[in-house]
Amino acid sequence: MKQDMIVILDLGSTENTVIAREIRDMGVYSEIHPHDITVEELKALDNVKGIILNGGENRMVDGEAVDVCPELYSLGYPMMAIGHPTAKCEECYDETVGEDVLRKFLFETCKAESNWNMKNFVEDQVELIRKQVGDRKVLLALSGGVDSSVVAALLIKAIGKQLVCVHVNHGLMRKGESESVVEVFKNQMDANLVYVDASERFLGKLEGVEDPEQKRKIIGAEFIRVFEEEARKLEGIDFLAQGTIYPDIVESGTKTAKVVKSHHNVGGLPEDLQFDLVEPLYYLFKDEVRACGVELGLPHGMVYRQPFPGPGLGVRCLGAITRERLEAVRESDAILREEFEKAGLDKKVWQYFTVVPDFKSVGVKDNARCFEYPVILRAVNTIDAMSASIEHIDWAVLDKITDRILKEVKNVNRVCYDMSPKPCATIEWE
Ligand code: XMP
Repeated sequence: MKQDMIVILDLGSTENTVIAREIRDMGVYSEIHPHDITVEELKALDNVKGIILNGGENRMVDGEAVDVCPELYSLGYPMMAIGHPTAKCEECYDETVGEDVLRKFLFETCKAESNWNMKNFVEDQVELIRKQVGDRKVLLALSGGVDSSVVAALLIKAIGKQLVCVHVNHGLMRKGESESVVEVFKNQMDANLVYVDASERFLGKLEGVEDPEQKRKIIGAEFIRVFEEEARKLEGIDFLAQGTIYPDIVESGTKTAKVVKSHHNVGGLPEDLQFDLVEPLYYLFKDEVRACGVELGLPHGMVYRQPFPGPGLGVRCLGAITRERLEAVRESDAILREEFEKAGLDKKVWQYFTVVPDFKSVGVKDNARCFEYPVILRAVNTIDAMSASIEHIDWAVLDKITDRILKEVKNVNRVCYDMSPKPCATIEWE
C-alpha cells in the first residue's frame, strides 16, 4: 500500500465506519482496528500517518472499560481521541468531531497526503495480488453480482488467465443476466470462464417444495454442490477469490475487526477443498467497490445494479416453483426494469421487482373467461434493508407497466401494486 493511512482504533464507538468514511472522503485511506492491537501489528501496517482513538460515549467494549496498549502512546504517531478524552493524548476532543477538526488533524498534524483514489487502489491491488498468487491459479464463483464482478475484473487485470471463473446459472437468474456475465467476462474481457447451466438440476430439486426456507436451503446447498463439482474438475487451483467487503467485516458498534474476522470463512466447501483466500475488496465500502468497478471498465448496469437475493427469482415465484410461473416472474421483472429505466426510477428506487403468487383469479381475455395468475409489483426504498418504505410511483408509469405485462406476459390477467412498508411486510414475499 503506497497510500497514507490513518488507523482508527475501535474503543467501543458505534461510529467507526462513519469516521472511516469521512476520512476516505477527504482522500486519505483509513482502516478500523481493534483497541487491543499490539505495537508489532501496528508497525506492520504500511504508511501509518496518525491514529484516532474512537471511544464513543464510555470507551466500553462488551461492557468493559477499555484503553489501548500503553506503549502505543509513546510510538510517536500523531494521535487524536474522539469521544471521551484521554489524559495521555495531546489532541483530545470531547464531542463528535467536526469536519474542519478532522481535516486539520489529517493534513496539518499528520501531514497525510490526499492520495486515496480508485486508480491508486487498483494499482496497489494488482501488485499485491501478483505477489500473493505468483504463477498459481485462483478460482472464483462469479454470480454477476457487484462484488464478485469487481473481484473478477480486478483479478483478470492482475493475473489474466490464471483466474478461473465459474458461473453457475441456477435457472433463477433474471432475464439476460447469465448471458451478460458471459458477454462481459468471456467475450469482452477474455476471461477463463466456466459456464455451468444447472437450471434443470435446480428446478428438479425444487419440484413440489413450498416452504420458503426449505427452498432457500435447497438452492444454497445445491449451489455449493455444483460449485464443488466444478472445482474438483479443475486442476492445480491454490486460491479461492471472494468478494468479501469491509461492511462484512466491521459492521458496527463494538464488534472489532478481529472478532468478526474469525467468524468469517469459506462458506460450505468441504475440508479437502479449503483454499487460501484472495480477498482484494476486503477494505472497501460498497460505494468504493462500485467506483472500483467503474475504474476497471465494467458496464454501468453491472456496477450499479440493485440488490438481488442469492436464491434469485426462486423466492419471487411463490410456493412450489413451476416453469410457467417462473417464466411469468422473469418476463414481468424484465418489463418492470425496462420501464423503470425509461422513467429514470432505476436511479431513484433501491429495489424493485415482481412477484407471482401460486393462485389464480378470474378474468376476461378476447371476450372469453380466463383463469390466470396475478403479477405483484414491488418497489421500495431503504437505507439498511431493516426497514423500508414504498416508492410512490406515477400512475402513468404504473399504467404503462400494467399494460405491457398484460399484453406480453403469458398466463397473467391481473397486476397489483404492493403498498406495504417493512415492517409489517418484508421486502421479499418469501
Ligand atoms: P427482506 O425480505 O428480509 O429482505 O425484507 C431484505 C433484503 O435482503 C434480500 N434477501 C436476501 N438476500 N438471500 C440473499 O442473498 C436471501 O435468502 C434473501 N432474502 C432476502 C432482499 O432482496 C432485500 O434486499
